[in-house]
Amino acid sequence: MPAVDVRAASVVDDGLRAELLACWVDVTNAGGAVGFVPPVSSDDVGPVLDRLLDGVTSGRDVLCVLTVDGATAGFAALVGSSSPLRRHWATVLRVQVHPSLQGHGLGRQLMAGVHRIAVEHGWEFLSLTARGGTGVDGFYRGLGYTEVGRIPGAVRVAAGDDRDEILLVHRLPGPGARGPVPALVDPGA
Ligand SMILES: CC(C)(COP(=O)(O)OP(=O)(O)OC[C@H]1O[C@@H](n2cnc3c(N)ncnc32)[C@H](O)[C@@H]1OP(=O)(O)O)[C@@H](O)C(=O)NCCC(=O)NCCS
Repeated sequence: MPAVDVRAASVVDDGLRAELLACWVDVTNAGGAVGFVPPVSSDDVGPVLDRLLDGVTSGRDVLCVLTVDGATAGFAALVGSSSPLRRHWATVLRVQVHPSLQGHGLGRQLMAGVHRIAVEHGWEFLSLTARGGTGVDGFYRGLGYTEVGRIPGAVRVAAGDDRDEILLVHRLPGPGARGPVPALVDPGA
């Protein structure tokens, strides 16, 4: 059995940056919905990755790195809020598993690691957005996320192809999760 791990990385050296960049480029060019439409190159994705890593090195955000037998296989970022009123919330960004490894449960394991790391950092609620028309919101619903809204046509993937941006939220287990938050009540629970 391969050894699967998800760790919080606060320091990103050149080697890890190169692996993250290669993953993001490959995921996008395989059709993944992580901020771009294909085709992309390292020159397109690199500056966006570096902005993400700026938040990580500042200490506000957390990079969650998925490894399989020690090799980088995917990642996600937990982005905190600078507002004192939203310190219990984080946004999950750039969730991805390398295309060569998708469909074998690693995305589920990555998100379990993201949730564990978020709890360790004291976050109580997570939000994220999914691109309409990709079906990926189904991935998050299967992990306990609830749709709380959508912005029609917010994502223009091509001329004449506008997609909804779907907002999903998830309440993490822990002491802060006791208070009622009506928008998060799952009618099926
Ligand atoms: C989305 C992603 C992270 C899922 O990772 P994965 O390793 O392929 O997913 P898993 O094998 O762990 O699947 C877990 C469950 O989610 C479902 N699922 C996975 N991707 C799905 C998708 N795109 N649409 C609907 N359901 C999906 C699986 O069928 C599986 O369901 P099951 O437990 O009932 O069998 C991965 O496919 C990916 O990197 N996609 C490209 C990037 C992307 O679009 N990211 C989303 C940004 S919002």
